[in-house]
Amino acid sequence: MTGPCDTAWLDGRYLPLAEARISPLDRGFLFADAVYEVLPVYGGRVFLLEPHLARLERSLAALRIASPHDAGQWRRLIGGLVTHNGGGDLLVYLQVSRGAEAGRSHVPQGSTPTVFAFASRTPPPPTAPPPGIAAITAADTRWARCDIKSTALLANILLKWQAEEAGAAEALLLRDGHLTEGSSSSVHVVTGGVLHSPPLTPEVLPGTTRELLLELARRCGFESRVCTIPEAQLRGAEEIIVASAGGGMRAATVLDGQPVGVGVLGPVFLRIFATLVGSRAEFSTEVEP
Ligand code: PDD
Repeated sequence: MTGPCDTAWLDGRYLPLAEARISPLDRGFLFADAVYEVLPVYGGRVFLLEPHLARLERSLAALRIASPHDAGQWRRLIGGLVTHNGGGDLLVYLQVSRGAEAGRSHVPQGSTPTVFAFASRTPPPPTAPPPGIAAITAADTRWARCDIKSTALLANILLKWQAEEAGAAEALLLRDGHLTEGSSSSVHVVTGGVLHSPPLTPEVLPGTTRELLLELARRCGFESRVCTIPEAQLRGAEEIIVASAGGGMRAATVLDGQPVGVGVLGPVFLRIFATLVGSRAEFSTEVEP
């Protein structure tokens, strides 16, 4: 984790992050009644901007929060944050909560959403394939609407922590005997040279990097299938690829202490990664403040 940049956005204006304040009655604080996005910025250009904005709208609609901004306003807000913080390589965090009410009531009483955004400096995206990571499996202890990008992430936090304590970078989650996703990533499995991805059900987040991975696989000429992945298929995979906006695309080469396939970066990952490097600019958008 790198430190946050100085300038943030809160409720209609840019301000020093150190001066940003919200009410303790904000429902984001009391109930995690909030949604968020993490958007990579490479060389000042936002990566996969439109899919992130579309998913933000989808999450807001699922929580029945009226979107506080239209697409142009979101773009300018993000563009301004990038510019105020000097451009370059950043991760932009954007959160919308339902806002503060006069008291604490489970059923919303009507409030103005709180919009908060800040940026963190991040290393430039890798041009060479990053080393494989270790992963563990864990029971998916999350709720039944993991398709909503909610800030209610306690289960994800405990699962990621469990992975870290096991010396791994990610926990791959199993529910009813099949793979859902990672604690903060989507997960893909190569079997018989075919890329397999769990279907978009309420059990998984519709990942922006997931869609990109599937598109890159198509461009590489790989066959891909969206289907339920039983635990045995995960454990017998030739390759496992985890994908997220923050972490990019990584191969998991160790699972529960055992090598995945032959335990090195596999051919499907390497081809897809090379295609990603060559096409990042195509998926990046200049945003005017
Ligand atoms: N996490 N699934 C979960 C549970 C996630 O938290 C994430 C991303 C993904 C991948 O989605 P995307 O490719 O759009 O980032 C899948 C973000 C980065 C986070 O919480 O920091």
